[in-house]
Amino acid sequence: MEFFLDTANIDEIRSANKQGLLDGVTTNPTLLSREGGDWREQAKAICTEVKGPVSLEVVGETAAEMVAEAEDLMKFGQHVVIKIPMTSEGLIATKILSQKGIKTNVTLIFSPLQALLAAKAGATYVSPFVGRLDDIVVEGMELVSQIRTIFDNYGYETKIIVASIRSPLHVLDSALEGADVATIPYKVISSLVKHPLTDKGLAAFNADWAKLTGK
Ligand code: G3P
Repeated sequence: MEFFLDTANIDEIRSANKQGLLDGVTTNPTLLSREGGDWREQAKAICTEVKGPVSLEVVGETAAEMVAEAEDLMKFGQHVVIKIPMTSEGLIATKILSQKGIKTNVTLIFSPLQALLAAKAGATYVSPFVGRLDDIVVEGMELVSQIRTIFDNYGYETKIIVASIRSPLHVLDSALEGADVATIPYKVISSLVKHPLTDKGLAAFNADWAKLTGK
């Protein structure tokens, strides 16, 4: 499973990259606004740092606006993926961009049929939001499981990016469900390495080594 970092923060991206945990990055208007400053400079810095796919989201309402924005966003680099909201106009834009060979990530997916529509329109990726479903007491991971079944039933190559991840358990469940990608907040990705028995075991090894060597 690929790990994308769900952030627009360049320090977080550099840190995950250093640990070999960065296959790509997803941003959205909220994440970019959190960083403040000039979003274009921020997007440019992200695309320079990241060698894998970088999702940048369009904000236009019509397909024509989305396609025009996409063409502008593609200037940041060939590995830019255009993030498009799951709307009727978004599907039209997805189809046009896919015919032009531009990669798309259809976002704000909350039902398996929305994912099927996006795949039929030629989306490269779909982003089901599991955490926001869990928030309203709907099992988010069940959505991922249903999308996986539908895509496998018909051989769709559209990749599933599990988004709105809130915990290490979401990452584990993404892998168990066969998701292609998990896009993970920095706080969650940093916690994956930790286990109390690792810390305890390491402390014991160090103590025994000190006893043996006197250091
Ligand atoms: O990439 C968008 C998605 O991951 C949002 O997450 O936590 O705002 O629901 P969240």
